[in-house]
Amino acid sequence: MSFRSLLLIVAVAATPAVSPSAEVTFSHDVAPILYKHCVSCHHPNDIAPMSLLTYKDARPWAAAIKQAIVTGVMPPWKADPKYGHWSNDARLSESEKNTILAWVNGAKLEGNPKDMPASPEFPDGWKVGKPDAVIAIPEHKLEAKGPDEYSYITVPTNFTEDKWIVAAELRPGNRKVVHHAHVFVVEPETDASKEKKEDNPAKAYSKWLQIHEGTLSFIRPDAPVIDDGCLKDDNGAFPGNAQSDLGSLISSFLPGREADVYPPGTARLVKAGSKVNFQIHYSKATGKPETDITSVGLVFAKEPPKQVARRIDLSNHMFLIPAGDPNHEVTECHTFQRDMYITSLTPHMHLRGKAMRMEVTYPDGQKETLLNVPAYDFNWQITYRTEKPIFIPKGTRLKIDAHFDNSPNNRANPDPTKIIRWGAASEVEMMDGWVEYVDAVPGQEPPVTVTAGVRQSKADLNPNH
Ligand code: HEC
Repeated sequence: MSFRSLLLIVAVAATPAVSPSAEVTFSHDVAPILYKHCVSCHHPNDIAPMSLLTYKDARPWAAAIKQAIVTGVMPPWKADPKYGHWSNDARLSESEKNTILAWVNGAKLEGNPKDMPASPEFPDGWKVGKPDAVIAIPEHKLEAKGPDEYSYITVPTNFTEDKWIVAAELRPGNRKVVHHAHVFVVEPETDASKEKKEDNPAKAYSKWLQIHEGTLSFIRPDAPVIDDGCLKDDNGAFPGNAQSDLGSLISSFLPGREADVYPPGTARLVKAGSKVNFQIHYSKATGKPETDITSVGLVFAKEPPKQVARRIDLSNHMFLIPAGDPNHEVTECHTFQRDMYITSLTPHMHLRGKAMRMEVTYPDGQKETLLNVPAYDFNWQITYRTEKPIFIPKGTRLKIDAHFDNSPNNRANPDPTKIIRWGAASEVEMMDGWVEYVDAVPGQEPPVTVTAGVRQSKADLNPNH
């Protein structure tokens, strides 16, 4: 018996799903799987440390690939498979796993290069297609050293008429310094809405609760503490829904997040005269002076949408995480006031985020866990896009249950001796669940959900900033 066939038998014994007659080769069997699940990040000049495009690229990483697949570290995906079905589910199937393992455990043959699938293309352009409008910040200069900066930069859209947006892509100008970014639409303020704000005591209290240091906002250290956001609806959120002061979020650039493409037939409205507010987290990782021109590309609807794509950000702002606490629980509850379909869910916490579960109680009392992320990772903030929109009848209550690890065992923890409250910087915390949805219209089919298909970025691999 030849050495090669002996190895093949060993490989087959370890992975019974592959038939003994199949000689697993890179070109024929492994490359198609890597092209489907890995190379969007693992190609030159992207966020992963090495390319996996060719046999030559991948062969030295065989053992590491096996390790990453067996442990489930790669491809990055954090949702508990027990709950929900997601259109952007990144996981390998069992047979795909077995094929790669058979190759790694076996002779790691290249096979016939003619069997290689067509090499995927990575156009250096916009992932959502050619935008109809690109709105950019003026050049932003960063000094070589110093603390992280949160910049809030507002730019006019110059839209003279209302626009329907079907896709939005936030593109960092300088990937070395843009850690993450959000972009919000700020609607033109009418005289009536100005008045309402000043007279609203809840809004005035919200304003009092927040302090600002430079461009960063934090909660006052002496603000009342509310960890149980479910005692009544939105119990821990800033009163008067202060988030809406920033306008409505339309796109984010976050580690592991795709561009925002709304379900076909739906669109977001950007009113004439609106401004765009960029919130950009800069980290001075390079030690050199840098410049950045971050921009957002917007794709307009070709025809009026059947449905408005909507989004609500549910938060607890009032929590307090004790120093050293390894498993501190913070909750937020919200009751939806109309029939709707959820199209995506995104947990958002910072470096002490440990786990998050989103569970609904339907009006008939039935409970259902929509999403469970048992090991949250700040470096992989994934938007979970529903395979089919989830129907949520009016009166359904969503509970968001977050846990934080402020102990020294959390390797990402910048300082376990600190008491932690809400704030915009990564060194303090946030507790958010972002929900994208459309209203359920009687007689109208729910929208089909889609995924941009391209992972946008893992902006920074260093969890310490
Ligand atoms: C969303 C982007 C993305 C996808 C998809 C992805 N990776 Fe990765 N991969 C990374 C990044 C970034 C790193 C660097 C380490 C980290 O941050 O976790 C990495 C690290 C690795 C490593 C460890 C390298 C080392 O230094 O030891 C291996 C092995 C790996 N990936 C294999 C894969 C395989 C195999 C797939 C597909 C099944 C895959 N990756 C899919 C982004 C990705």
